[in-house]
Amino acid sequence: MKKKIAFITGITGQDGSYLAELLLKKKYKVHGLLRRTSVLNIERIQDIINQYEKKGQLNLHYVDLTDTASISNLIIKYRPDEFYNLAAMSHVGISYFTGEATLNINTVASYRIQESILRNHKRCKFYQASSSEMFGSSPPPQNEMTPFNPQSPYGISKVAAFHTTKYFRQAHGLFASNGILFNHESPRRGLNFVTRKITHSLARILSGHEKKIYLGNISTRRDWGHSKDYVIGIWKILQYKKPEDFVISTGQNYSIEDFIKKVFKIVGLNWKKFVSTNNKKFMRPSEVRSLRGDSTKARKLLKWKPKYNLDDLAKDMLMNDLKLYGMSLEHAKKIAKKLSKKK
Ligand SMILES: NC(=O)c1ccc[n+]([C@@H]2O[C@H](COP(=O)([O-])OP(=O)(O)OC[C@H]3O[C@@H](n4cnc5c(N)ncnc54)[C@H](OP(=O)(O)O)[C@@H]3O)[C@@H](O)[C@H]2O)c1
Repeated sequence: MKKKIAFITGITGQDGSYLAELLLKKKYKVHGLLRRTSVLNIERIQDIINQYEKKGQLNLHYVDLTDTASISNLIIKYRPDEFYNLAAMSHVGISYFTGEATLNINTVASYRIQESILRNHKRCKFYQASSSEMFGSSPPPQNEMTPFNPQSPYGISKVAAFHTTKYFRQAHGLFASNGILFNHESPRRGLNFVTRKITHSLARILSGHEKKIYLGNISTRRDWGHSKDYVIGIWKILQYKKPEDFVISTGQNYSIEDFIKKVFKIVGLNWKKFVSTNNKKFMRPSEVRSLRGDSTKARKLLKWKPKYNLDDLAKDMLMNDLKLYGMSLEHAKKIAKKLSKKK
């Protein structure tokens, strides 16, 4: 049987790397579309490059998502069955400073890709990485029927890309679906996202590289899952019999403070001595206070459900960061005990 061909933008990111692993295991031919950077940024996909690139099962291509021809040429050449659009300026806080670029990559690039699919290879299925940030100030629980009230350039860009996807589906008959994913993390999360900042900084504190973690508002509540679970949801959305939009979430929400407590508890350290909160630098002009997803539709129609809870996630992330600093959990606990005794 002919192998399915998948395109992934954002393959060097957290979700792109886990999704590529999943699809390669499912025997897809995967084409990863990456941007040119002055330093090669392939850390998260180095293992699959080693395992699959020589066999021709994984191919990487340089593409600029502001350049329609560079996208179209690849679509025409390889005629993918599925196109996962994960590339984005994905940091809400940074989007307040880079709004125009965020819209260009998160929204206009999605439009470019879908238009190219429509013109060149209409039977290709398209996945758009939509986000719970689109709900913004709409109170929880949020599901597919909840109105969008975005509070950041990032949220606005994702709402526009969501409607772009719906437009290509409804007006032009593309198999184009939105996955509305709530926050999901992993050891591969970028260092400037709050969960990873907490686990990574704790490892740095324990290894003597840092004294304190500086954060903004820690009462913010989010519905956090594990990226490994969520990429299964992403794949399932494109396997559904028709194109539709799905919320993917755990259904539980916790504050950032809850997450800090869980992480510090793993090593037995009192977080209050090591975390500084409400720092102006990290406060946002408009906050999304509480997100909690209702993923009943995905659980029922896609038979999707998460395996990881927040305790598992916190442990997975911290263990990875301890390892980066050459520490076992036992060793970390011993250092934590010593630090607790210090004034
Ligand atoms: N993680 C979440 O909680 C969450 C929730 C809902 C939706 N989403 C969305 O899901 C997608 C994947 O998220 P993620 O957590 O995997 O994000 P991520 O780790 O930040 O990865 C983003 C990817 O997009 C690429 N990218 C960024 N700007 C680009 C540009 N100008 N041109 C080309 N590529 C560019 C990055 O490339 P480089 O490696 O070169 O930077 C990276 O591969 C994103 O669209 C995100 O907005 C994420």
